[in-house]
Amino acid sequence: MKRKKTRKNAPSIHSAIALHRQGDLDAAERCYHALLAANPNDPDALHFLGVLLHARGDDEAALASIDRSLALVPGYVDARINRGVIFEATGRPGDAERDYRKALELDPGHPTATGKLCRLLRAGDEAEAALEVYQAALAARPNDPGMLLDSGWLLWELGQNERALDTLQRALEFRDGFDATYQRIGALLSAAGRHEAALALFRKWYEAEPDNPVAKHKFLALEGSETPDRPAEDYIVEVFDRFAANFEDKLERLRYQAPALVRDALLRNGRPDHRLGRVCDLGCGTGLCGEVLHELVDALDGVDLSPKMLAVAERRGRYARLVADDLVRFLQQVETPYDTLVSADTLLYFGDIRPVLQAALGATAGGGLFVFTLEKLEGDEDGPYRLLSSGRYAHAREHVEELLAATGWTLVEMAEDMLRVEMRQPVEGLIVTARKP
Ligand SMILES: C[S@@+](CC[C@H](N)C(=O)[O-])C[C@H]1O[C@@H](n2cnc3c(N)ncnc32)[C@H](O)[C@@H]1O
Repeated sequence: MKRKKTRKNAPSIHSAIALHRQGDLDAAERCYHALLAANPNDPDALHFLGVLLHARGDDEAALASIDRSLALVPGYVDARINRGVIFEATGRPGDAERDYRKALELDPGHPTATGKLCRLLRAGDEAEAALEVYQAALAARPNDPGMLLDSGWLLWELGQNERALDTLQRALEFRDGFDATYQRIGALLSAAGRHEAALALFRKWYEAEPDNPVAKHKFLALEGSETPDRPAEDYIVEVFDRFAANFEDKLERLRYQAPALVRDALLRNGRPDHRLGRVCDLGCGTGLCGEVLHELVDALDGVDLSPKMLAVAERRGRYARLVADDLVRFLQQVETPYDTLVSADTLLYFGDIRPVLQAALGATAGGGLFVFTLEKLEGDEDGPYRLLSSGRYAHAREHVEELLAATGWTLVEMAEDMLRVEMRQPVEGLIVTARKP
């Protein structure tokens, strides 16, 4: 005989949490109340009801519910962490800190409690204290990749570079897959002179993903057996599409000044009235040259390979026309020559700039100027250009002079200045002004 089911529709805490996670707050709340009607001292229902009430903005009721849960089970780690979150949200950082620390006492190295406590401490300018928390957490969970990464970045920020790199490198040992973090750590390792470690990292990535343009270009840049004339177009698109959203914040931190250097060169070497006529910005990116030049131009066009960078430039409203294309291909198809061409921090993504200079000459009106920046290859190094571990190229001054002459340009000025700061070092550049005869 079948036994009669008496609690057929009684919710379980799991189904309630599932509804909660799906965002069905009404249904989840009904389930928590049903559970509490059956057992008013259900610590889970009290805890999750508190989390839900917080999401609804009723923090007083939320805290009351989680307080009851914790009174029943003082060692309930997740409830403590979530109460800390509500304390933080309601402007009580001291109470939040106490709950996160208590959670860590109960479960040393708990990743969520560690992350939240460290973020709280850092927001309060207590980076050293955050570092201590990471260290204690890593003593308990030495192989947690997230905590290794977070503490590595913090060490880097605090200027403890050697320890930072050791920690970051270790983080990658325990991490699956390859992404921008991987690339960033590889770049730091090579900038810090840990060539072998950086090479091993990019080799591993390249072997795992031979079609990935970033892995390939970075591996070749470090390995050095083969220097491509320029990176694949999809490398540029991949790198800059990813950058686009926070490109300018990043540049501000790097004291980026290439567009201003280009403008100054134009003012020094252009017409006395400083008018630039019809201008094209080659590798316009998010349009920073447009910002510094718009008052001097009659019309400004821009070309760039990265659609996402172009989308930012479009929003600026300084460009008459924006084209998604390779700049050499674009220049080769120009029908009405421009009066002025500019290119800030873009030709350093070319090793061989001869095709650019040739195409640019054809796209410029007689007497017109071409101003561009390059990274400078230090004098004692051999060869016309070198692919740097950053994935960009540096060019020798003499080589640029020769190429300008060979392609029909007249060199007006080759100034030197700092383009930006990278890895805390100034990046020295060439600011080239050439005139079409
Ligand atoms: C470092 S950003 C500089 C952007 C802008 N000129 C500035 O100063 O802010 C370099 C830009 O050049 C673009 N770029 C690189 N190689 C290119 C190519 N072959 N054709 C068109 N754009 C290119 C990239 O997509 C990126 O937006």
